[in-house]
Amino acid sequence: MPPTTLLLSLLLSSTIAAAAPPPLRPEFYSETCPEAESIVRDVLRRAMARETRSAASVMRLQFHDCLVNGCDGSLLLDDTATMVGEKSALSNVDSLRSYEVIDEAKEAVERACPGVVSCADVVIMAARDAVLLSGGPNWEVKLGRKDSLSASQEASNDIMPSPRANATYLTNLFSKFNLTIKDLVALSGSHSIGKARCFSIVFRLYNQSGSGRPDPTIEPRYREKLNKLCPLGGDEEVTGDLDATPERFDNQYYKDLVNGRGFLNSDQTLFTSPETREYVMMFSKNQTKFFRAFVEGMVKLGDLQSGLPGEIRRNCRVVNSRWPEVLLETGR
Ligand code: HEM
Ligand SMILES: *[C@@H]1O[C@H](CO)[C@@H](O)[C@H](O)[C@H]1NC(C)=O
Ligand SMILES: *[C@@H]1O[C@H](CO)[C@@H](O)[C@H](O)[C@H]1NC(C)=O
Ligand SMILES: *[C@@H]1O[C@H](CO)[C@@H](O)[C@H](O)[C@H]1NC(C)=O
Ligand SMILES: *[C@@H]1O[C@H](CO)[C@@H](O)[C@H](O)[C@H]1NC(C)=O
Repeated sequence: MPPTTLLLSLLLSSTIAAAAPPPLRPEFYSETCPEAESIVRDVLRRAMARETRSAASVMRLQFHDCLVNGCDGSLLLDDTATMVGEKSALSNVDSLRSYEVIDEAKEAVERACPGVVSCADVVIMAARDAVLLSGGPNWEVKLGRKDSLSASQEASNDIMPSPRANATYLTNLFSKFNLTIKDLVALSGSHSIGKARCFSIVFRLYNQSGSGRPDPTIEPRYREKLNKLCPLGGDEEVTGDLDATPERFDNQYYKDLVNGRGFLNSDQTLFTSPETREYVMMFSKNQTKFFRAFVEGMVKLGDLQSGLPGEIRRNCRVVNSRWPEVLLETGR
């Protein structure tokens, strides 16, 4: 290659590199905060010792953060006088929990390496640890995300799926994020741990699709159990288990779906619908296949990026420009 052409191609490639966000990579903090991952894992271990369910609640945060403008910690911003954030969005309000576990992990990481590790990355590490510490697979996470400068309740309302959603709707939604049918079914296996409210299922127990009748795909004895848990007109904040082993990350969720014992409509529809059923069957028979597909799905979910400018937040709930105390303390 003549020298001028070489120079030109170097210039061009550096221009392109500056325009696209820098690629995420596993060793991102290996020089600047090598202890970050072990610190976050210790915090998760302590949180789960206090409350086992916090693993499920933390893992769910990755889904709700990453689907809305990419994995940018936008989910974690508290509302301000001028910004209504994602925490108060339809799928999140009175539902998402364990934000304080992320705060604790971020504070611990800040003590070790101030101003280095983003809240968005803490969520990704914590979600992985939650799965691993619940008996699920381990995987290497890519890091180097920036935290958003704003959040949008509206964006979350537009994107996050309802528990009423059917397989066709979910397949289309996931395809917009380059997530395949296999990814959809595998990622839904996150409902192998955790709980949901009666609020999320009363419609299917008493008035599925406005029919005035229950969802006929619910196995009768399971329906009786759900009717007792969530009587018509009862307290919709009461919670039930998402599968038969809600503290263990395993493939029980898929076995339950095959038996008509899915908790949410969005779960059971994956077995009812022909386009997703084959993966439910596959994962119900082979946990190794589920674990591999789940890891692949979580990595793809973690790759979603907004491309918008960002920062390393000092406190996950507030953008740095609104955090003058910290700015004064650190003299930055
Ligand atoms: C496929 C579309 C999905 C729908 C429609 C959906 C919907 C829901 C709903 C309605 C709840 C219960 C909320 C409540 O009653 O307060 C829930 C809980 C949960 N979701 Fe999903 N979800 C989906 C996918 C995912 C994905 C991809 C993940 C993670 C990768 C995830 C992780 C969880 C976890 C762990 C819980 C239990 C949380 C806890 O116990 O605090 N979900 N989901
Ligand atoms: C699935 O849901 C969509 C939108 O909510 C609806 O238009 C469609 O008719 C449903 N499909 C089936 C097979 O029920
Ligand atoms: C999906 O993949 C296409 C082609 O690789 C890419 O142009 C697009 O930005 C991707 N979409 C998302 C949401 O990542
Ligand atoms: C069932 O839902 C339909 C449509 O959403 C509504 O018109 C009807 O009143 C509901 N029936 C009952 C018993 O709640
Ligand atoms: C489960 O799937 C894995 C990976 O594809 C395979 O190696 C293994 O033999 C399968 N196990 C059974 C019992 O079929």
